[in-house]
Amino acid sequence: MDTALFRPLTLRNVTLPNRITISPMQQYMAGRDGFVRDWHFVHLAKMAVGGAGTVFTEALAIVPEGRVTYHDLGIWSDDHLEGLKRLAGGIADHGAVPATQLIHAGRKASVAPPYHGFEPLSQKDADERGEAPWPVVSASAIEANPGWPTPSAMSLDDIKRFLDHVAAATRRARKAGFQVLDMHGAHGYLIHCFLSPLSNEREDEYGGDLQGRMKLALDVADAVRSEWPSELPFFYRLSCIDDAEGGWTLDDSVELSRAFKSRNVDVIDCSSGGLGRRTTPLIIPREPGYQVPFADRIRKESGLPTMAVGLIMDPVHANSIVEKGEADLIAIGREALNNPNWGLHARIALEGLDAYEPAWPKPYGWWLVRRAKALEASKQVAAQ
Ligand SMILES: Cc1cc2nc3c(=O)[nH]c(=O)nc-3n(C[C@H](O)[C@H](O)[C@H](O)COP(=O)(O)O)c2cc1C
Repeated sequence: MDTALFRPLTLRNVTLPNRITISPMQQYMAGRDGFVRDWHFVHLAKMAVGGAGTVFTEALAIVPEGRVTYHDLGIWSDDHLEGLKRLAGGIADHGAVPATQLIHAGRKASVAPPYHGFEPLSQKDADERGEAPWPVVSASAIEANPGWPTPSAMSLDDIKRFLDHVAAATRRARKAGFQVLDMHGAHGYLIHCFLSPLSNEREDEYGGDLQGRMKLALDVADAVRSEWPSELPFFYRLSCIDDAEGGWTLDDSVELSRAFKSRNVDVIDCSSGGLGRRTTPLIIPREPGYQVPFADRIRKESGLPTMAVGLIMDPVHANSIVEKGEADLIAIGREALNNPNWGLHARIALEGLDAYEPAWPKPYGWWLVRRAKALEASKQVAAQ
């Protein structure tokens, strides 16, 4: 059966077995040191077992001060490699392509984890849990939200050091065995703040017009490609539009994607919003597939493959996005937390019961197809 969602996709030398990816999702479960724990392994391995062709880890912080919270995973030292190798190996051993994402959170760093409020760290967090706030940086000294800490504007030396950190983190991601790397350029984190005119008032070569504001994102692409082998695919996550008037636009995203093409970026990972607390509902309603039109336009106008994300939950919908050529890959986020076997269920929904045994893990498929057929037969008997 030739179902669009289950067609393999070859990017450079890597073949993704189907079009389903697990979107990067921070777990806020690392210790202070940014090290991998059993939780991360179990969480990601079960996603690989569950039928996604590609499984992204959460965003890995390239420097400690670039973490969102004290509980994020890190990739700022070689000491992180052992745990990250275990994650990449665990994803691959359970049938998916291991993928990761790099982040510097910029002015949205130094925040309490969601289960402690998701607000900037304060003296109270330091007193109660030993989580002292740390100074944050950005393109310009403009806070993310009223009352949030004012970041310091990065100097040209800071930018140079940041690019070195990007290259070093990329080198470690390769050593850890990941086969896809995504750069987090969205959601109000550091790179996004350089792109948006609402957060970038710089007067040097990293600010001003669109070309100036794009410069950091493009330099980052070069830094990644200096360490990421040409055989391996490189994705870039963008907030395709800002969540406010006068911000970054879809036209800007198309322009940037075209520039990425010549920097050996392979896939544009199409998200939106997050520059501040205001979120995209101000501009687009949150309905299933609300960001698909961004992936569609960028795909058509930049010529690069795209990944669509955002409230994609129904397999028929996901399949139609790929079938219609609106995006090449579908990223599943919260629905995978709800149902880590989403990919396997999608297979049955789209291809029928005969897909159980070939598609599902051996210890499950044999039993489930027999259960499903028995239930079907009992329904027929009841209907007679
Ligand atoms: C718990 C959680 C953690 C997230 N962490 C990240 C992250 O590390 N990097 C990222 O780019 N997006 C992150 N996101 C956003 C998701 O990748 C995804 O884009 C978003 O949830 C929308 O997709 P969905 O509607 O399928 O959940 C996170 C989302 C959730 C729910």
